[in-house]
Amino acid sequence: MLIANPNVKYEPYPDDLKRIMSIQKARESRAALAGWSQLNRNGTPLYSLPGLAAKLGVAEVLLKDESQRSALGSFKALGAPIALVRLILRQFPENCFAAEELLAGKYRSALASFTVISATDGNHGRALAAAAQSVGCRCVIVLHANVSTEREEPIAAYGAEIVRISGNYDESVETAAELAEKNGWLVVSDTSYEGYEEIPRDVMQGYGTIAAEIMEAETLQHSAGPVCTHVFLQGGVGGFAAGVASYLWELYGEQRPTFVVVEPEQADCLYQSARAGKAAKATGSVDSVMAGLACGDTSWLAWKFLQPCVDFFMTIPDDEAVAAMRSLADSSEEDVPVVAGESGAAGLAGLVRLARDPMQVALNAESRVLLINTEGDTAPEVYRELVGESGASVMARQANWLKRNAQ
Ligand SMILES: Cc1ncc(COP(=O)(O)O)c(C=O)c1O
Repeated sequence: MLIANPNVKYEPYPDDLKRIMSIQKARESRAALAGWSQLNRNGTPLYSLPGLAAKLGVAEVLLKDESQRSALGSFKALGAPIALVRLILRQFPENCFAAEELLAGKYRSALASFTVISATDGNHGRALAAAAQSVGCRCVIVLHANVSTEREEPIAAYGAEIVRISGNYDESVETAAELAEKNGWLVVSDTSYEGYEEIPRDVMQGYGTIAAEIMEAETLQHSAGPVCTHVFLQGGVGGFAAGVASYLWELYGEQRPTFVVVEPEQADCLYQSARAGKAAKATGSVDSVMAGLACGDTSWLAWKFLQPCVDFFMTIPDDEAVAAMRSLADSSEEDVPVVAGESGAAGLAGLVRLARDPMQVALNAESRVLLINTEGDTAPEVYRELVGESGASVMARQANWLKRNAQ
């Protein structure tokens, strides 16, 4: 399913949105996280995939590979940690903590009884647990019935206490809120609802680093014409898409690229929001192989950015995400093999689907398409089963490919 957003606006980035998220604030978040030991100091690679571009009939496919962001395996390493740092700075103004030193654990004794809690599908919770461990505070993570044990184990390995419920994601969000209320803990969620905006804003703002690095990339400095004509962004609650798209909107104004948000058919809250003209709930079962995108409720704050900015919302079936994972893992003479998890490959799945009927979104032989692989094999056994090869084996082929193609 595809819908052209009837509420999209072609105008410079509005001041009221700029007061919430901006390139300047994204820069500050990036600087505050720069010294965190969990992050890859070189940022993440941006690959051009000429073989895929030729197959799909476009001029270029660029892939920003967020699986390399950190040992945590996903772009979420940019969100929860900065939100936690900013929360602590707001909670303890009298302590005059320095942001960079918080993640180095300098104040762990002062923060030992400070407790944060969140519900998660996996990646956000893993990032929050890792950040809490670095800071030295306590972290409780609520997992719903469909979160696999192989997603639970790494969260627990970062020292988080796990609360398992039998309900779905939305119920895990409610449980986290109840436990926080009862125990005086603070919720660090990546999704926003009325009256809960500061923390999800900081999470989204952290994702601006991805856009900033893309703009700085060597490959693009040497290319003629606009950086890209189309950007495909995976949609869960909408925070990732809002964080990246708002940055590019502020940078390019009316000349911004065409944004396409891609969601699972069963978890179509953003697609439904576009239809309704306001933040809405998903209509499906909210159970998808794309675990990170299996969200039933739109983030209230993210929608403020997505409604005026995203050109198209689309949904894809699970098997197309799996085909995209395999396609990215495949080695070819021209394209580097990449480990893309179920949610990470969804943007490519959206592009492949639209390339069959390209006029709908004005894709043509001149188009330069940006994809962001938002996760690697964050559930290694699921990855092996779906792709038929382990993530480690694909990475070994990637290393060989890069060696062969080094200039
Ligand atoms: C790998 C991956 N990609 C994309 C997303 C979507 O992000 P958001 O929920 O902010 O829309 C998620 C969310 O958990 C994710 O884990």
